[in-house]
Amino acid sequence: MSQRTYFIKTFGCQMNEHDSERAAGVLEMMGYRKAADADSAGLVLFNTCAIRENADNKLYGQLSQLKPLKLADPSKTIVVGGCLAQKDQDVLAAKAPYVDVVYGTHNMGRLPQLLAQADSASLPVIEILEHTEMFPSALPARRDVPHHAWVSISIGCDNTCAFCIVPALRGPEKSRKMGDIVAEVRALVADGVIEVTLLGQNVNSYGRDLVRDGLVPSVEGQRRNRTLFAELLHLLGEIDGLQRVRFTSPHPKDFTTDVFEAMRDIPNVCEQLHLPLQSGSDRILKLMQRSYRSRRFLDLVVEARETIPGLAISTDIIVGFPGETEDDFEGTLTVTEQAAFDSAFTFKYSKRPGTSAVDLDGHIDTTTMDERFMRLSTVTNRLSAQSHQRQAGTVQEVLFEGPSKTDPSRISGRTRQNRLVHVDATSVTVPATMHAVEITRAADHYLLGRVTDQPAGPAVPTPVVQPVAG
Ligand code: SAH
Ligand code: SF4
Ligand code: F3S
Repeated sequence: MSQRTYFIKTFGCQMNEHDSERAAGVLEMMGYRKAADADSAGLVLFNTCAIRENADNKLYGQLSQLKPLKLADPSKTIVVGGCLAQKDQDVLAAKAPYVDVVYGTHNMGRLPQLLAQADSASLPVIEILEHTEMFPSALPARRDVPHHAWVSISIGCDNTCAFCIVPALRGPEKSRKMGDIVAEVRALVADGVIEVTLLGQNVNSYGRDLVRDGLVPSVEGQRRNRTLFAELLHLLGEIDGLQRVRFTSPHPKDFTTDVFEAMRDIPNVCEQLHLPLQSGSDRILKLMQRSYRSRRFLDLVVEARETIPGLAISTDIIVGFPGETEDDFEGTLTVTEQAAFDSAFTFKYSKRPGTSAVDLDGHIDTTTMDERFMRLSTVTNRLSAQSHQRQAGTVQEVLFEGPSKTDPSRISGRTRQNRLVHVDATSVTVPATMHAVEITRAADHYLLGRVTDQPAGPAVPTPVVQPVAG
């Protein structure tokens, strides 16, 4: 077995995907090369997530699978980094004492030193810092695909959603300077990237800390009376060769009209919006400490759909938050129907020690939780199937990524609205290229199509439902 090979297993969100690219960059700088799998790698790094309990369980399951290999070959190095490490360093070291290095969310840049220490240590080397000294984008990133890049615009979160562990793990919101972001995107485009996804826990509060700290005295955005996030989109809109810009996630409470207008006016900003609802009950939203209410959310959906032609809206919804009654849950079903989400990520509430929701009354039993989850999924699946069916017969621009994960006779790509499209693999031989595709069939979670010479047109939008009073 080669000592100088690595394999990274990533759990959790896109921030973690991006952090893993940086960890890969740091390891490659140290002379490591990527291995095909965890079993054959000299170093295995788990980049962990702690958002729900099943994320914790998955990690411990995978670690115990690796244990016999580590015991048989002590020179194999096991590293656990990221959010769960930040939260549970002691539990980790107790449950998996054969781990070599544990590091948190703020110190990936110190990986070389930690690995060097582990060489001569008999116990796990653990380093968890409470805050970041250097913006992590300064680290090299080893991208998995040549045409797409994640770009961090901010890290951390200043919100206090009662269910959420992220602020405790990632710290307060810290924005990156706009000039640094634009310079990174320009360099990525020069390197062949045609699509970027801007990342932040709350992208539309981007820059608030920079203003507070007096770090943006006279940016053009302020002169033009735009929010800094809208201004950033405009600056990225001017970059030649950058064909698609996406971002995740905005927070409904901070959404401003200038961002909708930017999405409408800037050709490379895609018609895709992830707007997390969490609950459709105002009583539960209040308990969740989400400061918008269902009416404001639905007004945003209507404004977005009316402003941005062909827009697709996705969301996150939690069922079974403490105290959720049948009436509250039905409120979520109603708002979900009215918002007519094009796709949705639905979650069962998971108790996270350290968050304020743990202390609320009325935790929901698993039978009720399961039943509500099923009922909500039925609605969101139907809505996404309908949204897909509306696309049949249209011709849309698809950026192809590579072979389908489930059927190698197909190649897969995404429309500007982020809908997954498969076509026959023989029709697109060069990945990372853009083609016009006629949509021939719609399934619940993907579209089928064929490459065509006809010009691509707009997607069919989801009809706007005017919110009812209340
Ligand atoms: N910053 C992002 C969310 C990151 S977490 C945002 O605010 O949009 C992604 C999603 O996980 C959340 O939107 C929420 O729906 C879900 N989630 C977070 N904590 C959870 C918990 N304790 N139980 C269940 N789902 C949770
Ligand atoms: Fe968590 Fe809320 Fe911050 Fe999102 S906005 S990361 S849900 S605290
Ligand atoms: Fe992301 Fe999970 Fe951390 S969702 S921010 S990796 S807790």
